[in-house]
Amino acid sequence: MGTDKDTHSSFFSESKNNEQIIIKRCKVKDLDGVIEVNEKELPEDYPYFFYKSILDNFPESFLIAHNINGKIIGYIMWRVEKTPSINSLRYVNYGHLVSIAVSEPYRRKGIASSLLTNSMLAIKKNKIKKYVLEVRVSNYSAIKLYEKFKFKIESIKKNYYRDGENAYFMTLDINDG
Ligand code: ACO
Ligand code: ZN
Repeated sequence: MGTDKDTHSSFFSESKNNEQIIIKRCKVKDLDGVIEVNEKELPEDYPYFFYKSILDNFPESFLIAHNINGKIIGYIMWRVEKTPSINSLRYVNYGHLVSIAVSEPYRRKGIASSLLTNSMLAIKKNKIKKYVLEVRVSNYSAIKLYEKFKFKIESIKKNYYRDGENAYFMTLDINDG
C-alpha cells in the first residue's frame, strides 16, 4: 500500500509475484497508455479530448499504475459534478468515478484497490458529499471491488449503456465532510 498520502509523489504497491508497480499522477504524456488500457479492457471508449479535459480539470485524482518498464497497466479518473440536493434548492458536489481499469495479467493483485484508495482521498478535497459511479449489472468483479469499499447500490439505471445493458448506480456517503 501507499507509503505517502500525498499523491504528488509516487509510491509502491506490492504485487503477488513481487513485480514492482508504481502508482502516480497521470501526466499528458501518459494519456496514450491510458487510452490503450481502456480500449483493451472496457467497451466504453472516449475520445482523446475527453481524457485531456478530465486531466486538466481533476489532475489530483487521475492516477496511473505502471510496471518497472514504464508500461501503463492501470488507471483511474474522477470528475466532480454539481447535483441539486434532494432536500434543498442548493447544489452539492459528488465525486463521480468516470473510469477505472487494470490490464488483465495484473488483476487481483490489489492494484485497483490502491488506485481507488489514493484517488478517493484526492477527489474528496473538492468538498464532495458522496462518491458515485455506474457499473454494468453483469460486471461481477467491479461490483465486488466497490462493495469492498462500502459502496451500496442506490438504484438501477435502465438502458444505461449503448448496448442496452442496465447500470447499477452505486454510492458511498462521506460522513465527515
Ligand atoms: N472476482 C471476485 N471479486 C473480485 C474480482 C473477481 N474477479 N476482482 C476483484 N474483486 C474484488 C475482490 O473483493 C478483491 O479483493 P481480494 O482480491 O482481496 O478478494 C477486490 O475486488 C480488490 O481487487 P483488486 O485486486 O484491487 O482489483 P483489480 O486490480 O483486479 O481490478 C477491476 C479490478 C478494475 C474491476 C478489473 O477487474 C478490471 O480492470 N476490469 C475491467 C474493467 C472494468 O470493468 N472496470 C470497471 C468499470 S465501472 C467504472 O469504471 C466506473
Ligand atoms: Zn458515470
